[in-house]
Amino acid sequence: MSKITIAIDGYSSCGKSTLAKALAQKLHYHYIDTGAMYRAVTLYCLRNNIISNSIIDNEALSNSLDKITVSFIYNTETKTSEVFLNDEHVEREIRTMEVANNVSAISSIKEVRSKMVAIQRQMGQNKGVIMDGRDIGSHVFPDAELKLFMTADENIRTQRRLDELSSKGEYHTFEDVKQNLKKRDFDDTTRKENPLIQAEDAIVLDNTDITKEEQLDFVIKLINDLLLTKDEFKSIEKSVKR
Ligand code: DC
Repeated sequence: MSKITIAIDGYSSCGKSTLAKALAQKLHYHYIDTGAMYRAVTLYCLRNNIISNSIIDNEALSNSLDKITVSFIYNTETKTSEVFLNDEHVEREIRTMEVANNVSAISSIKEVRSKMVAIQRQMGQNKGVIMDGRDIGSHVFPDAELKLFMTADENIRTQRRLDELSSKGEYHTFEDVKQNLKKRDFDDTTRKENPLIQAEDAIVLDNTDITKEEQLDFVIKLINDLLLTKDEFKSIEKSVKR
């Protein structure tokens, strides 16, 4: 069966990566978490004082970009690709509130985006990928065969993020986490460079009231229908050419 590109965009903490990981395992596709890439760059900036007290040293960032490599390696235990910053495994370090509070600012910088988008396009060039982020369907892979735009109620998203943080030993108030989500959504949708927008041909998936399993079933059905049509189309094309 032919391989396709699946682009998943949407607001913060609406379950994009949960869905993407489940799909990748089912379809044997590569999963690429593009948010993790921007988080890794942010971590580098925090560690190297390129950003402090929310102020970015743009010149230092420009001079450092060549020294930053972001890559993914598949972990057979967790069954997912994990992010590496300059060959250091940083999956845990990039999920802190400190990184979350600074990542939107770093991801709004044109040079940072150009570098990340180039890596993303290279990773997806052979199809068979599921990429989640903010600009995947609208900018990185505008020709993706399946585009999903995910959303969910703000309080549900806050609770999910709160649970994720506390499962990693980071405890915050509901209100702090909610404010971080709201600010990131605002920054991500209003920035100049490739903001979060719903691609015209994206299918909206609001998972406020559905379970992960129902969501997965719904998307698998979409993919099966799509692949069937695509393969039927291919065989019709072949017979027409003969
Ligand atoms: O998906 P996430 O919450 O881990 O993403 C972290 C931030 O990275 C998010 O607030 C916006 C940014 N981002 C982006 O600008 N473009 C992407 N394709 C993915 C994430």
